[in-house]
Amino acid sequence: MTSIKNKIDKLRKNILKYQYFYHTLDQSIVSDAEYDYLLHQLYNLESKNKELITLDSPTQKVGANLSNKFKKIKHFSPMLSLENTFDINGYLTFEKRIKKLINIERTMSLCCELKIDGIAISIIYEEGILVRAATRGDGFKGENVTANVRMIESIPLKLEGTDIPKRLEIRGEVFMLKSDFIKLNQKYNMNQNKSFSNPRNAAAGSLRHINPKITAKRKLRFSCYGCYFFAEDNQELTTHYKRLMKCLSWGLPVNKEIVLSSSYIEVIEFYKKFEKKRKSLEFDIDGIVIKVNSIELQNKLGFNTKSPRWAIAFKFFSAERITTLNDVKFQVGRTGSITPVAYFDPVYISGVMISKASLHNKSEIERLNLHVNDSVIICRSGDVIPKLLSVIQITRCNNAKKIIFPKFCPVCNTKLLENAEEKIIRCHAGLTCDAQKKKSLYHFFSKKSLYVIGLGPKIINELIQKGLVKNPIDFFYLKNFDLTKLQNVGNKKSINIINSIHECKKTTFKRFIYALGIPGVGETVSEKIANYFTKLDELMNADILKLNYIEGVGKIISNNIFNYFSIISNRDMVNELIIKVGIFWKDQDQYEFDMKKTYFFHKKIVLTGVFNSFSRMELKRILINLGAKILNNISQKTDCLIYGKNFGSKFFKAKNLNIKMINEEELKSLILLNSTK
Ligand code: IVH
Repeated sequence: MTSIKNKIDKLRKNILKYQYFYHTLDQSIVSDAEYDYLLHQLYNLESKNKELITLDSPTQKVGANLSNKFKKIKHFSPMLSLENTFDINGYLTFEKRIKKLINIERTMSLCCELKIDGIAISIIYEEGILVRAATRGDGFKGENVTANVRMIESIPLKLEGTDIPKRLEIRGEVFMLKSDFIKLNQKYNMNQNKSFSNPRNAAAGSLRHINPKITAKRKLRFSCYGCYFFAEDNQELTTHYKRLMKCLSWGLPVNKEIVLSSSYIEVIEFYKKFEKKRKSLEFDIDGIVIKVNSIELQNKLGFNTKSPRWAIAFKFFSAERITTLNDVKFQVGRTGSITPVAYFDPVYISGVMISKASLHNKSEIERLNLHVNDSVIICRSGDVIPKLLSVIQITRCNNAKKIIFPKFCPVCNTKLLENAEEKIIRCHAGLTCDAQKKKSLYHFFSKKSLYVIGLGPKIINELIQKGLVKNPIDFFYLKNFDLTKLQNVGNKKSINIINSIHECKKTTFKRFIYALGIPGVGETVSEKIANYFTKLDELMNADILKLNYIEGVGKIISNNIFNYFSIISNRDMVNELIIKVGIFWKDQDQYEFDMKKTYFFHKKIVLTGVFNSFSRMELKRILINLGAKILNNISQKTDCLIYGKNFGSKFFKAKNLNIKMINEEELKSLILLNSTK
């Protein structure tokens, strides 16, 4: 019991601290997801241990504690919160419950509105004149912000129109447009080196500024979502919608996106429409609010301690989820770099199920202070790449196990070394480390390297496992019977792969450099190096200074290239590939010049049917070597279709689009003509 009490105390203490920062200091120091999660945990613990509930628990209070900046005023009726749901079922349960409570089975009118993410305020008008305004505060007493609210342009100081009641309470949201928030932050940043974290915080800070003149400058907006009369005035305003329209006629701003619906289908449509549109709106919304439209039914339904029974907020999912960390595995990359990867219970974010995220490097693990079994917050950064944002330290359990970065390679057990400049920890075992061997060999023969068609990671792994290859050279001595020993490789496939291996010997300098897989030497750098040196020897014997002289080759890459060619086994391998295996290329300029002269250079080509003189793979290889781009489907951008026997629908599609067609005979003479150039 003590440990549950401790847990509850710890949760309360932290939630209250976050509330104080959020409501009183206008600062978010935790994400919404983490805050909701902690509050949920507290609810769960309290509901199982009712004797531990105290009146000052955050679960029992509506809003925030009040600051001393403003005088307090008591609300005429409490400013409550809204019940939340994040899914359709939660909404359907709400609808079912209210229908049961008021004992109706038929449809009823519901008012759907946007849930603007700002600060709730109450404004009192007497005889149409604004006499006071207050924040929600703790729900019962708010802060007197009358002077500040008078500065907000869109809030009328005097109501216009007819039927203005003697005394009227308007409730609504003060908010800031996203564009005004950005401008304000730019200014604020320049002057005070501080900034607001989001438009809501900016609006809160501006509304609750001690100097109302500052509030006036901050471009705050207002949207009214409710009005309350004090006497039995306005008998004819029997629905929430009619009341909002009346407010509009008095000159109060009411957001125009309101829909009256009679079924959950329309509610869901409204929700989906704005879930899609929310990013392009001028202001932040965090969901929609659905309210029973009839005031009579609202009165019948009444209130709970914290929220009205006649309304619910159907909130959008924040793009963050909380889950449990199960493990961190350390992956060995092609160049030996060690990358930690977090594995967690799967979470569904923006339409995708995610169960792992890269942790990048050692310092990220240290920054997060990660432990197995931790509750972690996951998001998709830039809405795409899974990212582990942070750890909820408060709820860490006793069996949590700290993640320690290994000192030895998890695959080959070689001692890992840290490159301080690159901030990368590496296994330097190279091709003797199985993980690096698999990835390097795949890279050597991949599309942008020497390109052997049909040689994927599965076949390479099997060849390694069977001891048939341990370096790139071994591939050039493979025999048909070696490949047919592998799973799913028949005679035809094996012959095609062997032919492709043979064909790949004719390559370019750039491709060869790229294929070596030197850390940091990608496609672009390889091209720059190939343009700089005329011969491979020059590259192999270049010193760091010379390498560093090449545009786009910095200190780190120069070092990597120099180190690569300083290792005797690497030099031997490169020499053997050229001298014994026979890899060759023409002078780069000459090669490109020759390519440009071919009929196929940069042509987008589609193949269909069966050819007598070539397999598909062979033909692809020949055409690619002549500079063609092979595509799978016909489109208006296709330059020509090459067709053999038994062609398919591509033939007719090409004909319809008037695309040039070439048969096998024409193709053979074109190849002959272009290859001799
Ligand atoms: S109705 C009894 N309608 O959401 C509370 N609230 O999470 C009645 N909000 O405190 C509130 N847009 O500050 C209502 N169209 C809307 C709203 C809205 C934003 C805010 C409001 C409220 C909070 C509840």
